[in-house]
Amino acid sequence: MSSIAALLYLAASVCFIMALKGLSSPVSARRGNLLGMAGMGIAAATTLAMPGVGNYGLILLGIIAGGTAGAVIARKIAMTAMPQLVAAFHSLVGAAAVLIALAALWSPQAYGIGHDSDIHFASLIEMSLGAAIGAITFSGSVVAFAKLQGLLSGKPLRFPAQRMVNLALAVGLLVLLVLFCLTASKPIFLLLVLLAAVAGLLLILPVGGADMPVVISMLNSYSGWAASGIGFTLGNQLLIITGALVGASGAILSYIMCKAMNRSLLNVIFGALKNSGPAAEAEAGEQKPVKAGSPEDAAFILQNASSVIIVPGYGMAVAQAQHAVREVAEELEKEGIRVRYAIHPVAGRMPGHMNVLLAEANVPYDSVFELEEINPEFGTTDVAYVIGANDVTNPAAKNNPQSPIYGMPVLEVAAAKTVIFVKRGMSAGYAGIDNELFYRDNTMMLFGDAKKVTEALVKALKQ
Ligand code: TAP
Repeated sequence: MSSIAALLYLAASVCFIMALKGLSSPVSARRGNLLGMAGMGIAAATTLAMPGVGNYGLILLGIIAGGTAGAVIARKIAMTAMPQLVAAFHSLVGAAAVLIALAALWSPQAYGIGHDSDIHFASLIEMSLGAAIGAITFSGSVVAFAKLQGLLSGKPLRFPAQRMVNLALAVGLLVLLVLFCLTASKPIFLLLVLLAAVAGLLLILPVGGADMPVVISMLNSYSGWAASGIGFTLGNQLLIITGALVGASGAILSYIMCKAMNRSLLNVIFGALKNSGPAAEAEAGEQKPVKAGSPEDAAFILQNASSVIIVPGYGMAVAQAQHAVREVAEELEKEGIRVRYAIHPVAGRMPGHMNVLLAEANVPYDSVFELEEINPEFGTTDVAYVIGANDVTNPAAKNNPQSPIYGMPVLEVAAAKTVIFVKRGMSAGYAGIDNELFYRDNTMMLFGDAKKVTEALVKALKQ
């Protein structure tokens, strides 16, 4: 590789690293995105200008087709459907890794990794690992997409002797990997890809819907490692670096999510969320009285407060109530009331879900606080306005060892003088468990669609 190309690849790598740094905060996320795009532009242009790259017409056609499809999908996709979109895109990365490995095996000379009967041993290892991880990523992502899109049941799918089958698959994959590296046999390679694809299916089918975001970020990590493996086969340093960045950041994100839910990664993969534990069953049947109010009642309580914390959750995302929520905050602030937002790390259905929605509604970043920062503040707050959030406020996570969410850190809204819960009815959240806060004396339920109720609240506040 010429030194200019190496330098440009280095510049692209730096852009990618800075993009990841930028994406870690909503304040710098736009800049991060721009840097990522710039890095990808440099990377693609440099690769296309490499000697030996030809067929520009076909490449241009691919860029136009892929670029148009990507742009249309990105513009149309609803925020709540983002996890399945990410899953669908990951499946393409996995498929690409498999196809490149296949191409390299069939024409090794074209890739400079040897000849038909004599492929470098290191290349055999790289391409087999890249293809196996790619096939797992492909089929696993397709299942994740189908579950999130509702094409397959979100419930964990189990069958007898599942663990034994998985173990046999893992051993089979290992044996095939070794055999392929020793023989470079094409039929063994195809068998390896097939078995890896089956492993991907069986790995993701038993995972429950609530754990899917963790799985998606895990698949994101796999797709990075697959790309990195293929980078070695292609002798492309930038692909190795970028793959490693994606692999590592996906793994870190999975870890952060697991920590926020107090689960281990192994528990997510092998043990589905227990929706029907003894605690859940006992609570489900109970009919306890709740205090319900109207938007006018809520407006009265809020206007008499001096500090308010808004706690958004999945229901706000579904109802797209973020703009109405910001209007409520503006009305209150006009009257000198302090308004802050509390974000739980797993509120909603994907990492950063609430941050993105609030940013979209132009909520100032400095009034948005993470769980650790805001929890001590509830005790001195007059009203917690909980909109479409449930599990992330449930004290069972702290005081009921039988609860499926036991151990998950929660937003301690009950410490506020009054808690207003906005939701349509008494339905449980994603974990499928009741929330004792609904029945407390200092709680008022504001029943209805989050957007409609909050818009009515804005009207009442204006009056
Ligand atoms: P949930 O506990 O899922 O509760 C959402 C509540 O919103 C429901 O109780 C529902 O009650 C209400 N709701 C739904 N649609 C609504 C609408 N249109 N208007 C008003 N309310 C509506 O949400 P959460 O508190 O955000 O917790 C997130 C859950 O997802 C946690 O269990 C978390 O572990 C899980 N999870 C999240 C992630 C990430 S990364 N975010 C990853 C894995 C798992 P009604 O039906 O009665 O309205």
